[in-house]
Amino acid sequence: MKVLVTGAGGFIGSHVVEVLIKAGHQVRALVRYNSRGSWGHLDEFASKVREQIEVRLGDVTDQPQVRSLVDGCDIVFHLAALIGIPYSYDAPASYVATNIGGTLNVLEACRQARVRRVIVTSTSEVYGTARYTPIDEGHPLQGQSPYSASKIAADKLAESFYCSFDLPVVTLRPFNTYGPRQSARAVIPTVMTQALRGAGEIHLGHLTPKRDLTFVEDTARAFLLAAETPGIEGQVIHFGQGQAVSIGELAQRCLDAVGSKARLVSVPERQRPEKSEVGLLLCDAAKAHRMLNWTPQVSLDEGLRQTADYLRANLRQYRQEDYVV
Ligand SMILES: NC(=O)c1ccc[n+]([C@@H]2O[C@H](COP(=O)([O-])OP(=O)(O)OC[C@H]3O[C@@H](n4cnc5c(N)ncnc54)[C@H](O)[C@@H]3O)[C@@H](O)[C@H]2O)c1
Repeated sequence: MKVLVTGAGGFIGSHVVEVLIKAGHQVRALVRYNSRGSWGHLDEFASKVREQIEVRLGDVTDQPQVRSLVDGCDIVFHLAALIGIPYSYDAPASYVATNIGGTLNVLEACRQARVRRVIVTSTSEVYGTARYTPIDEGHPLQGQSPYSASKIAADKLAESFYCSFDLPVVTLRPFNTYGPRQSARAVIPTVMTQALRGAGEIHLGHLTPKRDLTFVEDTARAFLLAAETPGIEGQVIHFGQGQAVSIGELAQRCLDAVGSKARLVSVPERQRPEKSEVGLLLCDAAKAHRMLNWTPQVSLDEGLRQTADYLRANLRQYRQEDYVV
């Protein structure tokens, strides 16, 4: 099938492109415009894979452009978003424009083009701190950061397009994803890259919040399954390992994976405002098992090992001096 992937140059998007190419789909990839002509992480693909992708530089906030990108596609995977939580404190209007406005443009274009399916990417951040665990899809949504609020709005637009116009939408809601190509703002690359450069002390935010982590190849497989499984239109499906680990313990396992003896220190300037920090996310993935036949295949230790190998080989891409938000 002919598919469009937005956010294709990003961390998860590039892995989704990879599984789609392997599955034999014809991929059009929207990469955010930049004057360097960079294709983001698609630049790391072997040239014989790159040649199979129709790359288009652009912006999801540009409605006419999004309409032309969706034209002729059977399935649309919408992953483009601004995703950093700290940056969403600084620039909430950008999150409204990209995450809400961009999603509206994609949904509207898909309606006009009568696509067979549109997969909208949500996030477990929409749940906020767990009110009960494990979290199922019926858990209340709590906008504890502008990022989370913008993703809740985008999810609700997707729901409304399904209810109002019968648009064949599936909303996929990954819990925290990690692995090769993740940006330096995330905790695992932050800890590992500093440790690989020989840091003796690593500064982090709060160490007690717990997250449920999924390796990116497992996440990308869920996207493929969500496109191929019949009869799931209108569903919100989340997925995660079903195990929560604290940031402190995770950071220690990152240090172990790269053989570092660095000390972890929680510093106030890296801590999020108390009510904004999400304390616990833990996934009940029963619906993903039942509807998509999805189960995670990569353990945290194996995933951290593969991530460390990638970061060791690509350390130059990661900034040395500053923390990335
Ligand atoms: N990483 C995670 O743990 C995680 C967990 C749950 C959900 N998600 C969701 O998965 C999706 C992908 O996230 P990621 O982790 O790969 O982040 P990422 O930042 O690596 O990828 C997002 C991509 O979107 C692009 N983008 C941003 N603004 C754009 C615009 N205006 N027009 C076009 N492209 C634009 C960026 O350039 C980037 O390549 C997002 O929707 C995110 O909310 C991520």
